[in-house]
Amino acid sequence: FGYFTYDAGFTSTASCRSDITFIDGENGILLYRGYPIEELAENSNFLEVSYLLLHGELPTKDELDQFNRAVTEHAMINESLKDFFDGFHYNAHPMAMLTGVVASLSAFYHDAIKLGDPRNRMLTCHRVLAKMPTIAAAAYKHMAGEPFVYPLNRLYYTENLLNMLFSRPTEPYEINPIHARALDQLLILHADHEQNASTSTVRLASSTGTNPFASIACGCAALWGPAHGGANEAVLNMLHEIGDISQVPKYIDKAKDKDDPFRLMGFGHRVYKNFDPRARIIRKTCHEVLNDLGIENDPQLELAMELEERALEDDYFVERKLYPNVDFYSGIIYRALGIPTDFFTVMFALGRTPGWLAQWNEMVADPEQRIGRPRQLYTGAARREYIPVDQRK
Ligand code: CMC
Repeated sequence: FGYFTYDAGFTSTASCRSDITFIDGENGILLYRGYPIEELAENSNFLEVSYLLLHGELPTKDELDQFNRAVTEHAMINESLKDFFDGFHYNAHPMAMLTGVVASLSAFYHDAIKLGDPRNRMLTCHRVLAKMPTIAAAAYKHMAGEPFVYPLNRLYYTENLLNMLFSRPTEPYEINPIHARALDQLLILHADHEQNASTSTVRLASSTGTNPFASIACGCAALWGPAHGGANEAVLNMLHEIGDISQVPKYIDKAKDKDDPFRLMGFGHRVYKNFDPRARIIRKTCHEVLNDLGIENDPQLELAMELEERALEDDYFVERKLYPNVDFYSGIIYRALGIPTDFFTVMFALGRTPGWLAQWNEMVADPEQRIGRPRQLYTGAARREYIPVDQRK
């Protein structure tokens, strides 16, 4: 029955050619369009990185200004789209709202399906990039039972996001540049990661020629799971469950026990068999944000550092090359910024959006692109005769 190579979880099958992101997992290297993630995180900003991912080159000053203007211009969502949120219970998971509302953008922009026109595709990229924070913030406000806050053109992308999340009619939000910068850096670190599960999902869905808003919604759905973008939420839940430094050895043992489903969340990666370079950057940012907030001895940070230290010296984790990944520390930063735990994966989705869009655009333009159609090794019953229901035993 089997004529195909079996590769569960696609550990050794390249599904596409791509010019966008390079990862060397053995040596902990991540490059966007050839630029090291460390340099981009230090010197660039999220919109510039988005331009780089979408266009392949860093923009000139004029190109960047134009791009910023284009993204700013599309930040509003249609007023009637706001009504969609009323269909969700106040305690719906925000990823459910994000996934549903992003897909419904397809009902507003019918030109997005003209996939053969590169300018039209770029317009879709601008729209999605611009509207994702507005939709995310609307989901947040719906959960909080507070009025929606409109995007402000005078604010930079990440400042705007913070303002839409935290501004209230009674109390305008005062932008803290350290927090806005930390958030911007987190978005840069999440911006692309080659053919991860959500990006592959976007590509597979898009390979059918479907509406790009629907494809991005597919990416959101795949990201939601705890083995992928849901890990940042799972890390904080895990730290909460562990509760105290004295419990760390017990939980390390649980993670090693094959009869126990518990895993150390924020640890391990399919590709990195070395330190995730994003985790190193995030660890530093985490200390900066907590210092700025005057939380020098944050118990959850101390717990996380103890857990990391114990795991890194434990044979089980050393032998399997399990290191902290990007999500081990991101949740601690989000929490310090006042973002609720069940909203963390939404933040990841906002960061990953330019990557999904760049990969979608690259795939649609690729003359080698064909519909994605994996094969299988059939392991079911051999051919047999149908038995009428009254004769079955
Ligand atoms: N805790 C305990 N053991 C682990 C862990 C962990 N976090 N991760 C992997 N292992 C063990 C696993 O049990 C297996 O052991 P053995 O060889 O004895 O059977 C070995 O390490 C290899 O693991 P795997 O499950 O075959 O590796 P994978 O490449 O299929 O899974 C992973 C990668 C990220 C899903 C996994 O490491 C994991 O579940 N980590 C926790 C969740 C997490 O932090 N996910 C975020 C990933 S980074 C953000 C993103 O890109 O989405």
